[in-house]
Amino acid sequence: MARLAVNVDHVATLRQARRAKNPDPVAAAILAELGGANGIVVHLREDRRHIQDRDLELLRKTVKTHLNLEMATTEEMISIATRIKPDRVTLVPERREELTTEGGLNVLDQEGRLQDIISVLHKNGIEVSLFIDPAISQIQAASRVGADVVELHTGIFAEAETKEERRRQFEILRNAAKAARELGLHVHAGHGVDYENILWLREIPEIEEFSIGHAIIARAILVGMEKAVRDMVELIRNPLERGK
Ligand code: PXP
Repeated sequence: MARLAVNVDHVATLRQARRAKNPDPVAAAILAELGGANGIVVHLREDRRHIQDRDLELLRKTVKTHLNLEMATTEEMISIATRIKPDRVTLVPERREELTTEGGLNVLDQEGRLQDIISVLHKNGIEVSLFIDPAISQIQAASRVGADVVELHTGIFAEAETKEERRRQFEILRNAAKAARELGLHVHAGHGVDYENILWLREIPEIEEFSIGHAIIARAILVGMEKAVRDMVELIRNPLERGK
């Protein structure tokens, strides 16, 4: 059965919107593990728009399952990764103006550079995943540069507007997963995976892990809303009974 890695970036996004202390992605990670997550994922972005260096340091100390750091291929990030030593680094493309990661890493364009970065990360005992589009040429390049894992970008599949397009993108993912496994790569998948399209994706046997953020955090806000309001209503109605 495939593993679930939970991305807690959006918890930090909410905190940073008010430059407040809460909600804390470290607390969310602990609860995600209690809920059965097999791993925690964070993307430390160059502009620090959500996850902060402090979060990563604390997560390294508190995550008991598996910590996956998504990052760009910059000198700064490589130096942070080799100091913090997450269990895995997922290399992703990063553009400052994007809302979230758009498109996979172009491995074909930078094989030499990626080979060097992967070798540095391996020397530090860190497993390396490349987030790529489900294209055979990119998968072959990922294998050549020595990646351990490819995380197949499921965004186009997730955003397909017609059933035919969804089916077509699903087949692309299925063939890509098969090709990656045949080359000896571990196969993960992520981006836009939700409570509906997971029913499709779980049918691809080569996918060993799903990396899911938005859908889980969005649902957490809604399923937690009723209790959060009830707790406040109770405090307003019964202040004396709460030891004041
Ligand atoms: N995998 C990678 C490489 C990502 O960049 C992201 C988004 O941060 C995800 C998975 C999770 O995507 P989503 O938030 O849509 O579940």
